Amino acid sequence: MYTKDDLKRHLAEMNFFPWDTVLVHSSMKSIGEVEGGADTVLDAFSEYFSDGLLIFPTHSWATIDEKHYIYDPEKEPSCVGLLTNMFMKRPGVVRSLHPTHSVAVLGARAKEFIEGEEFATTPCPRNGCWGRLIEERAKILFLGCPLTKFTFVHGPEEWLDIPDRLAPNAIDLKIKMPDGTYLDSRFHKHQCSFGNVSDNFGKLTEPLIAKGIAQRGKFGDAECIIADAARSSDFVIRLLQTDPEIFNDPSPIPEEYFAVRRKMKISPSLLACDIANLADEVASVSNADYIHIDVMDGHFVPNISFGLPIVEAVNKATDIPLDLHLMMDNPSKYIADFAKAGADMISVHYEIDEDLSSLISLIESFDVKPAVAIKPKTPIEVIYPYLDRLASVLIMTVEPGFGGQTLHTECLDKVRKLRNEIRRRGLSVEIEADGGINTSNLAAVSRAGVSIAVMGTALFNENDRQAFIDRCKG
Ligand code: DX5
Ligand code: ZN
Repeated sequence: MYTKDDLKRHLAEMNFFPWDTVLVHSSMKSIGEVEGGADTVLDAFSEYFSDGLLIFPTHSWATIDEKHYIYDPEKEPSCVGLLTNMFMKRPGVVRSLHPTHSVAVLGARAKEFIEGEEFATTPCPRNGCWGRLIEERAKILFLGCPLTKFTFVHGPEEWLDIPDRLAPNAIDLKIKMPDGTYLDSRFHKHQCSFGNVSDNFGKLTEPLIAKGIAQRGKFGDAECIIADAARSSDFVIRLLQTDPEIFNDPSPIPEEYFAVRRKMKISPSLLACDIANLADEVASVSNADYIHIDVMDGHFVPNISFGLPIVEAVNKATDIPLDLHLMMDNPSKYIADFAKAGADMISVHYEIDEDLSSLISLIESFDVKPAVAIKPKTPIEVIYPYLDRLASVLIMTVEPGFGGQTLHTECLDKVRKLRNEIRRRGLSVEIEADGGINTSNLAAVSRAGVSIAVMGTALFNENDRQAFIDRCKG
């Protein structure tokens, strides 16, 4: 049973601010049991957005037509759910005079926001309430309902004159004005030859989340999606300019339309270099973002590699930050030494027998960035409790111990999960992947959400390593 305070806390956890402009598409039944029911839900919203604009759609397109041609904002029910019908009757809430796509608004600027809607001749004109969400930098909350409710997308379709969206003939409507008079309206309703185009808006979910334009959240039991109106509009406009028929069928949006080209940071793994020429090898990767040094103890992993003297030597040879990957048991004994030797970031493995929380504090106490590494078979969720204290999570994409192995692609599912969790919580933790990365899988690694790629064999096999690093950075 959720209380009003629980629900307000959920709004805060979804990174809403009291001064936000937010439009809510809702499904009351998805929220679960709430003490005081729907009224409590609306109280939570109204109190939370005390300094902003709270907007619920109160569409009447399902009832208004040439037979039922008078739109009376006081009486016409909303056809989009219980919460909207309750919200528009609350004190202080004003409802716009748009005959089919009205909104109900609460907030100091509510009256100004709904101004002029009675003159609309189409569902979502650019200078009407739906278009105004862009200037408002509004957030659109899908509370327990899918993106097939994304009314806002009708806007860009309308503004770009996408064919087969509006009825060619206007119908005559009357709008009851606040002074009791009736205003004549010649109005074009939605009309689409293949059914309801919004049934296909659901395919925006994946691309909007992949591009960081929308985030997932939770309100009561309800799964939520929060989309940025302005950025959604930019994205949808670009899609429609590429393919005006993109929403004519439910097939997924092609990946190349939303591939995110991020800058990749490269961390060369010295395990693959020629140690006899350490200084030259380090100099050959001078445009790298980090230098990755694998410390193996022959116990946690069946191999022995570098220790303190190598870290000190590399630190002398370069100004590039050192990224230490401790594949060892009992790292707490050595962290002070590694910090002194010049480590900028230290990853300790989740799978060792020491208390992770104390290790993170210990690493931080030397002003070194704390990171946690996990082996391929360790589920990613185990590090979630530590996430807000970490600078980076190192996801091993091979079994630790040796360079030159093949990347386990299933580890990229963990990267995706982690990326979503980081986004959901609004954190800025890096995701580092280590093992088997080369130019044929780098794009997939990047798309999954990795921001630091450790590269050993693939990089040190190259002659011109700086050019290779530049190419990989993207
Ligand atoms: C493996 C090490 C990796 C390794 C990566 O246990 O943690 O850093 O050097 O090398 P490649 O890129 O060759 O897989
Ligand atoms: Zn490593």
